[in-house]
Amino acid sequence: MKNELQKLKKEFIKGLEEIRDGVQLDELEKRFFSRRSGEMTQIMKNLKDLSGEARKEFGKLANEIKREFQELIEEKKTELEKEDKSGLSSEESIDVTRPKLPQTENGHFHPITIVHNKLEDLFTSMGFMVLDGPELESNYYAFEALNIPADHPARESMDTFYIKDHSDWCMRPHTSPVQIRAMQKYGAPIRAVVSGRCFRNEATDASHEHTFYQMEGLVVDKDISIANLIGVMKELLQGILEREVEVRLRPGFFPFVEPGFELDMKCLVCEGEGCGACKHSGWVETLPCGLVHPKVIEYGGLDPKEYSGFAFGLGSMRLVMQKYGIEDIRHLHSGDVRFLEQF
Ligand code: DAH
Repeated sequence: MKNELQKLKKEFIKGLEEIRDGVQLDELEKRFFSRRSGEMTQIMKNLKDLSGEARKEFGKLANEIKREFQELIEEKKTELEKEDKSGLSSEESIDVTRPKLPQTENGHFHPITIVHNKLEDLFTSMGFMVLDGPELESNYYAFEALNIPADHPARESMDTFYIKDHSDWCMRPHTSPVQIRAMQKYGAPIRAVVSGRCFRNEATDASHEHTFYQMEGLVVDKDISIANLIGVMKELLQGILEREVEVRLRPGFFPFVEPGFELDMKCLVCEGEGCGACKHSGWVETLPCGLVHPKVIEYGGLDPKEYSGFAFGLGSMRLVMQKYGIEDIRHLHSGDVRFLEQF
């Protein structure tokens, strides 16, 4: 019996030394103390088969060992809990003299994100809200409420992706629907920009993508004029491009503005010579804009006799290309690390 106890003690100590976590400790505890088959439990049970003196002697010893085991288990438990909190095992420590690991490459923002963040900063500094809108949009918001009825040729020119078996819905071909949503939600006066993805069934080339980004702007207040529009547009381009840009304004037609304009910018990639980014014209269509059509103000739930406004829709990927001198729009979604590492 004595030998048996010594052997058990050895095994227990050995087992305890090998323990690295709480699960292993539970297993050890079970192995020795489980009610039915625990090795220590078994010994305690066997005591009753001994005769008087022997039972007294071994009973005392067995109880001592049992208590010792239980104390050791408790100690181990506390030790493991401490390690858990510090994240270091008792054998580990922080060596402050160790040389630092070689610096690994840090991630960074995509050029589209950089430009959008900058634009949003710029506009918030001018008191604009930054809004979001759904990418899956109803035809009502995408077209109708923007004064583009079902038979209007502008619907054709947008090459919209309609949803199969749900032709009332589309992947928004522009961010303009958020103009209506914003007016309905916030009323007037309002200054808001919306940046996000748009989708069109385009054949892709150096200046066209089927998935692209726009930043929509909307200001509705009393007595808004073209002068306000031009002032904000200038602020926008100079703020983002951080240099002088040459611009020209042409009349442009969009059913949701009246009058409508196309603001073009002299191509910064080729400086007006003509290249892939400007469709070899030397000018980049940058900013379609105009004064919000009275009907659109009405669809937004406001009174066009009381309020007027201006709006613009910036093709922000084109702006990214101009800012960084990127000659092909397809690089931006290519996921090519050699391209991305340049930013
Ligand atoms: N939504 C138009 C498009 O994607 C762009 C646009 C034109 C937006 C004029 C405007 C605007 O807000 O005033 O083609």
